[in-house]
Amino acid sequence: MDIWTLEKWIKSRRSIRKWKKDEVSDALLKKAIELATWAPNGGNYQGWYFVVVKNKEVIRKMADTVQSAADRIASWPEARSWEEDVKRYQKNASFYRDAPACIGVFISEYRSVMDKVLLVREAADPMASRIMRFRRTAPTAI
Ligand SMILES: Cc1cc2nc3c(=O)[nH]c(=O)nc-3n(C[C@H](O)[C@H](O)[C@H](O)COP(=O)(O)O)c2cc1C
Repeated sequence: MDIWTLEKWIKSRRSIRKWKKDEVSDALLKKAIELATWAPNGGNYQGWYFVVVKNKEVIRKMADTVQSAADRIASWPEARSWEEDVKRYQKNASFYRDAPACIGVFISEYRSVMDKVLLVREAADPMASRIMRFRRTAPTAI
């Protein structure tokens, strides 16, 4: 594949929030997950887990649970300062409700060797503590 084709593929990818009713085959789901596991990852740790949900009732319950948490947060007085953003989030919170399949992506706990050193030292050393603060905003596991 040439770079121009690759560019076209990358730039034409979009987040889709509407689905056809068609069932997604297990073969296609497995292929999507297999391809995802080719992603680069910290220390080649590969601490990911994928859970496929095709049961419509379970997907509906997942959507209800997330939507009710989003609605609850939106009702709090603290949300008023970001009213428009909160409303937008609330509208999309359970966008996968009618999807024919969902893939949940989970990550197990992971500490890089630097995290291990910093965690032991952070209480006693402001610099270690500062570095750890930055690392917590973008954990290595992710
Ligand atoms: C880590 C991550 C989390 C996201 N979370 C949500 C989400 O909670 N709800 C949603 O509707 N879209 C979510 N998105 C999709 C983004 O809104 C979307 O990628 C972005 O608006 C760019 O649009 P595009 O993907 O169509 O290019 C997420 C994307 C990423 C990478």
